Amino acid sequence: MSFGLGHGRELVPGDAGIEMSSLPRLPDAPSVAESRALLAFDPRAWFADPARRFEIEIGSGKGTFLLQQAGLESETNFLGIEWAGEFWAYAADRIRRAEMRNVKLLHGDATEFLRTRVPDGIAAVIHLYFSDPWPKKRHHKRRVVQDHTLREFHRVLAPGGELRIVTDHDELWAWDVEHVDRATDIFERRDFARPASAGEGELVGTNFERKFRREGRPFHAMTLFKR
Ligand SMILES: C[S@@+](CC[C@H](N)C(=O)[O-])C[C@H]1O[C@@H](n2cnc3c(N)ncnc32)[C@H](O)[C@@H]1O
Repeated sequence: MSFGLGHGRELVPGDAGIEMSSLPRLPDAPSVAESRALLAFDPRAWFADPARRFEIEIGSGKGTFLLQQAGLESETNFLGIEWAGEFWAYAADRIRRAEMRNVKLLHGDATEFLRTRVPDGIAAVIHLYFSDPWPKKRHHKRRVVQDHTLREFHRVLAPGGELRIVTDHDELWAWDVEHVDRATDIFERRDFARPASAGEGELVGTNFERKFRREGRPFHAMTLFKR
């Protein structure tokens, strides 16, 4: 139960929200791959029809992209992952009230969840929009894009899957490009294609994009195709 971002209104995640702490314990195993295999967990089972196309958003914030795009793509299951409790509760409450059966919001660290729980080759797209820039050098290790996370995203993506990245932050963009340039064996970089839910003049139409657009900031975007 939370009231903060709801401006006094109680935020109720209900069935739309899932706490990472509620997931089954990780089995002991010599490697994380063996632990995942023993766990035999699959997040697609959270949806009414687990066989549908499956997409993941890392850092969903207030959930605007999920609400907009999942409304247009009712045949796709979307899993948003958000580690800030207030934002998670706010976004899950919006999804519950909109009665969107094809969206779930997980409260936890997306990179940890993907690494320890998500099986190979299940996601058609991973969306990463306006990721936190962590500008201080000692915090760079907290950025979502790292050499090892790119390899994890590649593992989790289905054949032909895509990682879509948008940022307003020049230095984070330079970091992302530097890491992507070291991963050309696994990803092919192409132009970013706007989702159908993006509004006039928008790349995606997330809350941060709208805020930064009002401030006149330029954006960077790319799509990485799984080789
Ligand atoms: C700058 S906000 C952007 C939110 C949204 N994508 C948008 O464009 O409006 C970045 C969000 O990512 C979340 N986040 C950052 N790293 C994360 C991680 N490893 N796992 C889950 N959420 C993360 C933050 O809590 C924050 O809500």
